[in-house]
Amino acid sequence: MNFLPLIEAKREGQSLTPEQIQEFIREFTAGKIPDYQMAAMLMAIYFRGLNTAETTALTLAMRDSGDVLTFPQDRRPLVDKHSTGGIGDKVSLPLAPLLAGLGFRVPMISGRGLGITGGTLDKLEAIPGFQTLLPAAQIVRQVQRVGCVICGQTDKMVPADKKIYALRDASGTVPSIPLITASILSKKLAEKLDALILDVKFGGAAFMATRAAARQLAQAMVALGNQCGTNTRAILTDMNTPLGRAAGNWLEVKESVACLEGKGPLDLLELVVDSAAHLLVQTQKTKSLAAGRRTATECLASGAPRKKWDEMLVAQGADLKIFNRKLARETTANVVVAVKSARAGYVAQSDARSIGEVIRDLGGGRLTKEAAINHDVGVDQLAKPGVRVEKSGRLCRVHAVDAAQAKAAVERLKTAFVISAKRPRPLPLVGEIIAR
Ligand code: URA
Repeated sequence: MNFLPLIEAKREGQSLTPEQIQEFIREFTAGKIPDYQMAAMLMAIYFRGLNTAETTALTLAMRDSGDVLTFPQDRRPLVDKHSTGGIGDKVSLPLAPLLAGLGFRVPMISGRGLGITGGTLDKLEAIPGFQTLLPAAQIVRQVQRVGCVICGQTDKMVPADKKIYALRDASGTVPSIPLITASILSKKLAEKLDALILDVKFGGAAFMATRAAARQLAQAMVALGNQCGTNTRAILTDMNTPLGRAAGNWLEVKESVACLEGKGPLDLLELVVDSAAHLLVQTQKTKSLAAGRRTATECLASGAPRKKWDEMLVAQGADLKIFNRKLARETTANVVVAVKSARAGYVAQSDARSIGEVIRDLGGGRLTKEAAINHDVGVDQLAKPGVRVEKSGRLCRVHAVDAAQAKAAVERLKTAFVISAKRPRPLPLVGEIIAR
């Protein structure tokens, strides 16, 4: 195809037809359009945007660039959650088995972390033996048998997104609402879901810094998801403070298990229960969010989701004896040091961005896609906003590979906490619901 006139048309702010978009995605996936031309098109889209019809065409063309999952007919609805990511955001880990316990099927295709944002697959790979790369047939079999799977995208799923995302990363075109919408939804639509809940985060450590920007992205994704036949809702949630009291891959697995056992932090529990409640309403299993929350809470308390978690681990290659032995250890990193408060008062802020940067630099996150990560480093026992601390009281613990790294992290983390004389006003975790 002659791609140049399409780049020029978009550069001049003209609309492309669905057929033109389908063709260039097909040709690019087949390696027939060079990267430099696609990068030019992405930059034109970044500046000129895409209208609704163009965004829909791009999303569906990307979804159809590879295999989609096909499930047998079943009375259990297919559902999933996607988060735009943040520090300590481990919601997917307890949520998938909870949803399976509630009678859903959950083909949760997840990603890895990059920069300060953690990734669900990295967290799960902290579990000895756990396999995250599964062929499509195994994903379907496990969903049918266990009710949930959390794994990575296969090479054959949505290959157009893989290629385009790498180019966006290298060409400064990631922060474009139509490109983000198409990227996220093409992958979710390849799961052939009945319902999808999106957790779009806003704040200092979020992809979208302001609530207004998060709302704009959420509205675009909710409109498109529904238009493409998947009942889609979004919640806007605060990402100025880490979620839960632990951040770092293995520490988050531990906190997720605690959540499944009714011992997890309240903010994590709130998001897990809320996400499930929305999906219960979206699939008409319950009439109201309040009823959904009650149903999800009762299901968690029954212990069934904790059993599902074990079933999922075994199905994906983990040895429960080894897992439980690791779980029973107080710490798995070489060095654990407390960060202490310089004065007494109330925690007014625990800055998620600074904490995320420290964890990344401890080896818990990546600066480049290829970098290896350390699963055992991170922070836990985080003092959350509103909590009273005494002078020399603990603000958090650092888990590091050696004493020098721990010391450097402790110094940096001291500035991540703001201590005030007055108790701060509590801010809601869920700021808004965007439904169609
Ligand atoms: N996550 C994705 O999968 N795609 C984007 O474009 C941004 C975040």
